[in-house]
Amino acid sequence: VIDVALTRADLRRADVAVVIDVLRATSTATQALASGYHRVLCAQTIHRARQLSGPGRVLAGEQRCVKPPGFDQGNSPAEAINRRGVEFVLATTNGATTIVAARQRAARVMLACLLNFDAVVRVLQAAHHPEQEVQIVCSGTNGAAALEDVYLAGRLSARLRGERTDPALVAEAVARGFDSPLAALAASADAAVLREAGLTGDIAYCALESELDVVPAVIAAGAGVAAVAELDQLADKDLAGRTIDADDTVSV
Ligand code: MLT
Repeated sequence: VIDVALTRADLRRADVAVVIDVLRATSTATQALASGYHRVLCAQTIHRARQLSGPGRVLAGEQRCVKPPGFDQGNSPAEAINRRGVEFVLATTNGATTIVAARQRAARVMLACLLNFDAVVRVLQAAHHPEQEVQIVCSGTNGAAALEDVYLAGRLSARLRGERTDPALVAEAVARGFDSPLAALAASADAAVLREAGLTGDIAYCALESELDVVPAVIAAGAGVAAVAELDQLADKDLAGRTIDADDTVSV
């Protein structure tokens, strides 16, 4: 069964959760791994991210779209192109928190954005068995649905086999309404906020499709943090076969 959580409130138990925050958390996390960071530590709060800071770790994130005080960089995929350390600590209002929450509901959690669209589709098509529950989770914005997330959820849903829930059909209908990823992103309220903040370049960057052959997956979790690494680098490459033990915590 293919389901879509149109907002984080719709998160439910599933075999596989695919978390989306196109503007911009999952785009930034995917870019960070593509740039060579070993792990992305998604923190539930700015405070938790600060606790995780240490040698070799780059602190990235946003509060109302801009870099929090004392952080090394913002929540920008373009800024994540140049690797500045070994691990990337990411704290964002909606995306990073949804990744941490999804880890509590699904044994396997992957991250999707437009940048890694084909790679995610390939992994899901290979690893997903029709009897499994796949939930595509839109991070949304402050509890409301975000157009860019629903657009991508619909694009992904349309490429998978299996029964679809009504929210999945809604997302697919939304996706059919746009001629290009950039058209969908540019029409969103989140894009308007980014334009207002002078971050227009990130909208175009996040709209680039299938530029990165990286599928981030949660490999461990601890209090208020989920550690994400590139799926191909995991010992167990079969997403469907990987589970995470409760004591598989993030060492800090
Ligand atoms: C979030 O997680 O709230 C977003 O990624 C915000 C942003 O675009 O920085």
